[in-house]
Amino acid sequence: MKILVAASMIGILPSLALSQEKPSWAFPVTEKNQPVVKENTAPRSAPGSARSYTRAQADNMFDIPDWYPQMYPKLPKIIANGNAPNVRACGSCHLPIGTGHDESAYVAGLPVAYFIQQVQDYKTGARKGSGSMLTIAQNITDAETKEAAEYFASLKPTKWVRVVETETVPRSYVGPGNKRLAHPDGGTEPIGNRIITLPEDEEIVLYRDPRKGFVAYVPKGALLKGAALVAGGDGKTVNCTVCHGPDLKGIADVPPLAGRTPTYMVRQMFMIKSGERAGHATALMKQAVANLTDDDMLNISAYIASLDP
Ligand code: HEC
Ligand code: HEC
Repeated sequence: MKILVAASMIGILPSLALSQEKPSWAFPVTEKNQPVVKENTAPRSAPGSARSYTRAQADNMFDIPDWYPQMYPKLPKIIANGNAPNVRACGSCHLPIGTGHDESAYVAGLPVAYFIQQVQDYKTGARKGSGSMLTIAQNITDAETKEAAEYFASLKPTKWVRVVETETVPRSYVGPGNKRLAHPDGGTEPIGNRIITLPEDEEIVLYRDPRKGFVAYVPKGALLKGAALVAGGDGKTVNCTVCHGPDLKGIADVPPLAGRTPTYMVRQMFMIKSGERAGHATALMKQAVANLTDDDMLNISAYIASLDP
């Protein structure tokens, strides 16, 4: 009898441990075995742009590609060049239009005070996140943070993510820079309980050209379930619009959610729930995430990503 009880407990323990585990699809990490991809070292040009850049130049984190100066305000130094060696240019990962990629963050239109507080929270370690953001926060000056916050707040948020409900997705892998890409050998696979975000046009994304964003594949039914949870989920959570605004476009210092990159949103809800994100104002979010499962976070993020920013 005792042995049976012990055996059943062993059965339970791993599942308990699993429920704490980060959903790996939402926390992409460059895979060890990379598919062979043909490298192109020639400069690339783009329609309507007077500029051309090689891949290496496009990836220069201290002198970012400036493909379409007419699309955004004049780039301050902190956005275009950062402050070497420890403060990489904000526009490299977040793009000059602030929309970023799903593995980083969509920062266009964030309230100035919220933005500055996040950098502060990364700096003190109250908010965990990518290693590169922590290093940046520890080395950036207050004046640079303010300039970056004001730059991104001045941008009009643009539609960047197209959400598609589906049962199957293109086979993908996580390439350099934690970026998920379609597998060069093609093929499809079941989506399962995941959000798979892929570039609408891989070349455009890889060269950090700001003209096109992403398609986020989500499981069938995610949008309806997400909408119900955003309305409070019959008491499972709190109606998000109370603090994030009627269209989830933010109110005062509470950040907007509508139209922003979905795996980023999942990561934040997960880390707020786990306590890895515990910044100055994070306590206000605690009740909203307390009872959410990974699938709930998936459905909510799918829904809010589908809204117009
Ligand atoms: C190497 C890529 C990279 C660069 C360069 C970069 N960031 Fe980030 N940033 C990230 C990632 C990744 C996240 C999301 C981390 C997480 O999941 O918490 C992020 C998140 C943020 C956030 C939080 C957004 C939110 O909605 O809460 C702020 C603010 C921010 N970055 C500011 C900056 C500033 C200012 C600079 C330039 C000095 C900068 N970043 C440069 C990768 C980068
Ligand atoms: C009581 C007010 C309140 C409610 C209700 C609320 N939030 Fe929040 N939310 C906040 C605040 C404040 C922040 C900023 C937290 C911080 O600074 O760490 C935030 C941050 C977030 C973030 C991270 C944004 C970013 O840019 O990193 C997400 C995602 C989020 N909320 C989702 C939701 C969802 C989904 C709901 C409803 C289920 C919800 N919130 C309900 C106040 C609220």
